[in-house]
Amino acid sequence: MMLSHIFGWNAKENCLPLEIVYGSGMRVLLIITGSIAAEKIPDLLHKLKSNGHSITCVLTRAGAEFIIPDSLERLTGNKTYTELFTGDDGKEMGHIRLSREADLVVVAPATADIMAKMAAGLADDLASTLLLATDKPVMIAPAMNVRMWENKAVQRNALILKQDGVLFIGPESGDLACGEEGWGRMSEPKQIADRVEKFFKRKDALKGLKVLVTAGPTIESIDPVRYIANRSSGKQGYAIAESLAAAGAEVTLVTGPTSLPKPHVAKIIEIESASEMLDVALKNLPADIAVMAAAVADWGIKNPAKNKMKNMPELKFTENPDILAEISKNKKKAKLVIGFAAETENLLGNAKKKLLAKKCDWILANNVGSKKVFGSNENKILFIERAHSEQWPEMSKIEVAEKLVEKIINTLGRKNEKYKVISKATA
Ligand code: PMT
Repeated sequence: MMLSHIFGWNAKENCLPLEIVYGSGMRVLLIITGSIAAEKIPDLLHKLKSNGHSITCVLTRAGAEFIIPDSLERLTGNKTYTELFTGDDGKEMGHIRLSREADLVVVAPATADIMAKMAAGLADDLASTLLLATDKPVMIAPAMNVRMWENKAVQRNALILKQDGVLFIGPESGDLACGEEGWGRMSEPKQIADRVEKFFKRKDALKGLKVLVTAGPTIESIDPVRYIANRSSGKQGYAIAESLAAAGAEVTLVTGPTSLPKPHVAKIIEIESASEMLDVALKNLPADIAVMAAAVADWGIKNPAKNKMKNMPELKFTENPDILAEISKNKKKAKLVIGFAAETENLLGNAKKKLLAKKCDWILANNVGSKKVFGSNENKILFIERAHSEQWPEMSKIEVAEKLVEKIINTLGRKNEKYKVISKATA
């Protein structure tokens, strides 16, 4: 099957790389809360301004211990706001206006305190009030001590915020201002500015598209106590689900058991076995795009015991359904079917065979033998389609996800009101 048939492209256009362009001059509302990481804010403001964006700052009382409003006003050229009730700027309606005028709200640094207020829906100062009043996407860059970040209450709040659709940048692991080491360091200004750029570039690019993503391992029961499984952590599939959702797609994630926090996507269905995964995947068609990143067990146990086995069993296996192949040939088939190939040898040859046998459009092949891929934060992908393949450099699984989503956006050529997709030939 040719993609040109699906999308009705002419062959010439089909060969041309597409790129997304977007206008500068987006409006960022930057909320600065009380952390020593606020010292990095001038650098962040410089980078956001160099990218052409207009920034308005809101400073909490604790934030003002680290940076003064005058500096922020000088750097942004805009008024900085600190108080909920100031007697000017439209009085009590001021926070509504501030939160609605922005294209994006960024909280950096975001303390444990502001995260708790956001998760609980508290509004006892200007920052928390406008976070509650905003109808715009919110991105936070947490910054705190490692023990605070690992505290169950903070982790609970982080999960609530992710489920509420708040986008996270970091935190990173490293040296902390308090002298300790670990997770809790605010991402560097460049990482935050880059993330903001990516957000503006991608936002709504896949709006209106339904995507089915599979992730994690499947497990096959031997008896009620034991099972066979594989080493997949779900990291790669979850990153893809998250990136697709961030681009505006309506994502259904079908996942095997993992210990990861659930990504913020429209629907998550947890399954255990390959046959359950197939069942759920088929029930969630039609979808415009399917990305099959799950490590599906090729074989299940023929006759799993009903009770706990007392003696060493002689296991008999049965072949599991091939979910990717089923999705490819299903009548309600997705327009763009993307599989993975986990290989330990002859990566290109074996993956290409899978692409043809399973009749999918793209395969992302990774070598799971020579290097640690399962469970790690990095991956190195050989991207394969019928007539073309390209080696991607080693990068984080999040970057793999973002690169894939970029390819999907360019291929589908979706438009939204702020960004337009253009062919390089016409640029
Ligand atoms: O989860 P992580 O720790 O982050 O690791 C990521 C990963 C290595 C699991 C991921 O990058 C990956 O390669 N996923 C596919 C693993 C796999 O099962 O590969 P495969 O070569 O056995 O299968 C090829 C394709 O067919 C895959 O898209 C797979 O989802 C699909 N498949 C396989 C068997 C089967 N019975 N049904 C299927 O749908």
